[in-house]
Amino acid sequence: MKNLVLTPGPVPVPRFVMLEMAKPIIHHRTEEFEEIFYTTTEGLKRIFQTKEEVLILASSGTGAMEAAVSNTLSKGDKALVINSGKFGERWLKICKAFGVEAIEISVEWGHAVDPIEVEKSLSENKDIKAILIQASETSTGVKHPIKEIAAMTRERDDVILIVDGISAVAVFPIEFDNWGIDILIGGSQKAFMLPPGLAFLVLSKKAWEFSKKSNLPKFYFDLEVALKNNLKKTSPWTPAITLVIGLNAVLNYFNDIGLDELYRKHSIMSEATREGFRSIGLEPFAFNNPSTALSAIMSPNNIDAGTIVKKLREQYGIIVAGGQDQAKGKIFRITHMGDVNKGDILVVIDAVENILEDIGFEFEKGLAVRTATEIFK
Ligand SMILES: Cc1ncc(COP(=O)(O)O)c(C=O)c1O
Repeated sequence: MKNLVLTPGPVPVPRFVMLEMAKPIIHHRTEEFEEIFYTTTEGLKRIFQTKEEVLILASSGTGAMEAAVSNTLSKGDKALVINSGKFGERWLKICKAFGVEAIEISVEWGHAVDPIEVEKSLSENKDIKAILIQASETSTGVKHPIKEIAAMTRERDDVILIVDGISAVAVFPIEFDNWGIDILIGGSQKAFMLPPGLAFLVLSKKAWEFSKKSNLPKFYFDLEVALKNNLKKTSPWTPAITLVIGLNAVLNYFNDIGLDELYRKHSIMSEATREGFRSIGLEPFAFNNPSTALSAIMSPNNIDAGTIVKKLREQYGIIVAGGQDQAKGKIFRITHMGDVNKGDILVVIDAVENILEDIGFEFEKGLAVRTATEIFK
């Protein structure tokens, strides 16, 4: 059976990108590839909204999260971690692995952090060196107030703001330079519509200053080495050539449609999905500030969301993500990133309606699809 992958990473890859990546391999130490590499990093600057160099790592997103910490902090430094889900937890684990002392703001899953809490923690702990946060917490479908938090850190010379934007960059506006973010991270298998394998990150001048003082171990992810090579249109190690070529095609496409159109696509899909399900009584898990990267939808009280995920896969060939840890069995998650169109959204809503009807949930059949359709119109 043909599968329709609608998970918030990996996401469907458009055909024109797959065809680009299907061409015979070229060598990376050639003018041809260096031109592609250069065009790609220039294109990334537009997406990250920065004049700084954007680095491309051959790793999944976590590699760039690790690099952000290991290149800017030192053993025993304090970092403020905003933990509101699986990926906030990952910051805690990275800090632990590198001997960075984490001060945690634990946020109830499904909620965004209150910037007042962040300000309070910063003033109570004057020796905090970095704030580690997600722009979009993919495990809960919540967006954090990055602009407001950046306004706090840009005033302080001794604190940097490190933002995991893996499910945020190219999804909704994040202005790296204008807002004064210090590190912003993206990942290929999300809004960049590529297979997994590339991570991107950009550092502010302040973050590069921090990197000079950092004493944590690094080799493959030594960002100063990556920067030197970036300026020479290349990377220190063998790059993921095929993925970079695919990325170049994606960035050309983004350039053609414009960033606003890209953001608008995610936002319309997200509104249609949320309001569609809400019309039949299925609420979004995001209590406030939903991310437009994905919709995390709560299953009705007495229905295990895992059953919906399983039946979607087995009966319809539709792959969505379930909830993790404390959200397991409570939510199912649908991507708005990648090569996903309105038809895909209507198909998954219709399939969920059918499954709910089979299970015996009482609702007005067809209302969710009609509501989403109206929003699309
Ligand atoms: C917000 C966020 N951070 C980090 C990651 C981890 O990235 P990866 O699995 O590519 O290492 C993901 C992946 O789903 C994510 O969505």
